[in-house]
Parts: sequence; C-alpha cells; structure tokens
Amino acid sequence: MKVPFLDLKSQYQSISEEIDTALRHVISATAFSGGPFVERFEEQFASFCQSKYAIGVGSGTEALWLALLALGIGRGDEVITVPNTFIATVEAISLCGATPVFVDVDEQSYTMNPDLLEEAITERTKAVLPVHLYGQTADLAPIMEIARKHGLYVIEDACQAHGARYRGRRAGSIGDAGCFSFYPGKNLGAYGEAGGVVTDNPELTSKIRMLRDHGQSRKYCHEVIGVNSRMDGLQGVVLGVKLRHLPSWNAERRRIAEIYREQLSGVDGVILPTEMDYAQHIYHIYAVRVRNRDAFMASLTENGIGCGIHYPVPVHLQQAYNFMGMKKGKFPVAEKCADEVVSLPMFPELTKEQIEYVVYWVKSFFLHNRQLAAETTTPVQLFAAGK
Ligand SMILES: Cc1ncc(COP(=O)(O)O)c(C=O)c1O
Repeated sequence: MKVPFLDLKSQYQSISEEIDTALRHVISATAFSGGPFVERFEEQFASFCQSKYAIGVGSGTEALWLALLALGIGRGDEVITVPNTFIATVEAISLCGATPVFVDVDEQSYTMNPDLLEEAITERTKAVLPVHLYGQTADLAPIMEIARKHGLYVIEDACQAHGARYRGRRAGSIGDAGCFSFYPGKNLGAYGEAGGVVTDNPELTSKIRMLRDHGQSRKYCHEVIGVNSRMDGLQGVVLGVKLRHLPSWNAERRRIAEIYREQLSGVDGVILPTEMDYAQHIYHIYAVRVRNRDAFMASLTENGIGCGIHYPVPVHLQQAYNFMGMKKGKFPVAEKCADEVVSLPMFPELTKEQIEYVVYWVKSFFLHNRQLAAETTTPVQLFAAGK
C-alpha cells in the first residue's frame, strides 16, 4: 500500500464539479486580477474568521509583510517571533527593514512561550508575531496582555491555522491582524499562490488594500510606494468553493488525529501532539517527536508512507540569518523540536485502511526496536496482540 503525505488530487476529485463551474465563471467574466470574485471571497473569509475585514493578497509571506508595513513597522524596529517556524514569518520582518528577535517555544504546544516574552521586549520593540504552528494557536491571552501593557501590536501568523480556535475565537481574529497562506497544501489551499489578512481595523484594511495595489486607492493616483500583491480572480473563486468545505475537512482531520492518538499513545519512543486546553487544533500538520528519526523515516519511506520534517533547521540557525551570529544552544526547545519532529500523513481524504497502515508501521518500528533488545516475539505478533 502507498500512503502519500498529502493527496490534493483526491480532494479535487471530490469537488471537481463545483470547482470547474466556478472557474468557468471567472474565465467568462475575465475577472482575472482582483475583482468581484476576490471581493466575494474576502467577505466570506472575514465572516468565517469572525473578523470585520479580509484582504486577499498574493501569498502568506506578502500577507505578513504588508500587515507589518501597514502598521508602520520599519528600519530600527524590533519584532518578536519564534525560531521554529517556516522562514517566511521571519523574512516578512526582514523585508520591512525591521529586526527579528526570537523567543523560545513551549515544549508542549511548540508555540511562543509567553513566560519568555517580556524579557525580550526593548524600547525598539514594535510588535509581537506569534505563529500558530501546525494548526494550533499560540497561547494568545498572556501574549495579548503583555503586548498591550507595552503598547505593542500583535500580528498572528495563522498561515497554518485556518479555522483553528483559541478559547472559542477563530485564529487570526484576536490580534491586530491575522495573516493566512492559501498555498495549495494548506487546510484552505488555492490552486496556485495566494494569501490573506484579516482584521477589525478599517484604517489598516485600507492601507493593506493600497499597498497590495501599487500604493493606489484610485487608478494611477499612487499615494505610497506599494507592490503588486493582488489576489487572482481564479484563486478567489477556488477559495470560495473550498471555504464551504473547510469545516467538514477540519473536523475530519481532528477525527484522524484522534485515531492516531488512540492507537499510538503509550508507544514507547513516540511523543504525540498535545491539544492545549485553550485550543481547538485543526491539524494542518500531524507532527510526532521521536529520538531515532532517520531510521524511523527510512522505515516509513520503505513501506510507502510519505512523511516530512517541519522544520529541520530553526530560523536562527539558517544560513540566511548567519549575520545575526546566533549559535546552537540559544533556543533549546526549538532546537530539540527541530531534531525530533516527523510529520505523518494528514489530510481529510485519508482512508481507514491508510490510517491503519500508518499506525501499523509506526507501532511496528518502535515495538521492533524494543523487541530487538528483548528478542522474544516478532513485531507482527506484538502488533497482532494489540501491544
Ligand atoms: C507559518 C507560516 N508562515 C508563513 C508562510 C508563508 O506563506 P506562503 O507560502 O503562502 O508565502 C507559511 C507557508 O508555508 C507558513 O507555514
């Protein structure tokens, strides 16, 4: 059997009629760049996120970058974030000319440790940028409280958290702005590159709208220097169709995570993800932690199971950030996670047989390792005995 890490084809097949019809509407209206289909999706996505406004842009990276720019963040400013994220979070800060400052993450949630936030604040700090990693929000209440006490903006990197909740509220709707990626593999993915910002702030909304469209609010009247980060009409309409399915897809991911948890808890050598009491996780990524990762991944791969590492090198140790002179040991929790995490297949269309197959091979690997030491029965016998 083969279990891919992600299967976008089966998702398309399940909604192909809706998608094909929607795409034809955009093409016959020739509404390719921005336009009514993007506007409709913006309204729907804002409402889904419990926010007043949504602005469609070119990618998640640009969503973060434009949100920071629109908040006036630039050279000489510091923005506090975490090192165990996709590099785009930190690139967005650098692209504004500001300086990223890292704080380590909590070992259970893998998100910003609020206890470490206050000591990282200086007189140059302008904003805090927590990352809702793998589909679970950071612990936003203490982060918001500290940020407000020091007069800092909070921008949520919700690029992996479409529909996740923090104490009942949707990811992205709690800070000053929430930024999303609609990269194809995300829980809500376009058929190409796209991103979005949500906010309750009308001035911020107008600024981001202006920045994404060459700094103009009226044609050829350029008030500020902007960029071209308009969302494609085709992406807007695909996202609108897929948004209708997102709640059931997220529920299915949660159901699969629950099966993984039931089947794999207690397997010696595997640390499963923790759903924090404040969170409703939407499992964009199902990352477990293991010690002998190379051998584990080789065994999964040999048996036809797709897996990945999110992310193997924390951003402070990336070559691109060498100039900051940060050495290994500075953020021990993020570094430990980078050494141990492995992502298992996780997408709503996973079949019962595929889930069982993944569980079987994860169990077999760890029971086999233990078994080699004990030299009694075979891993298959152990698994059959339900151990
Ligand atoms: C946490 C995080 N931030 C930012 C981004 C950037 O999004 P995009 O790839 O759409 O530019 C991603 C995308 O993978 C992400 O996972």
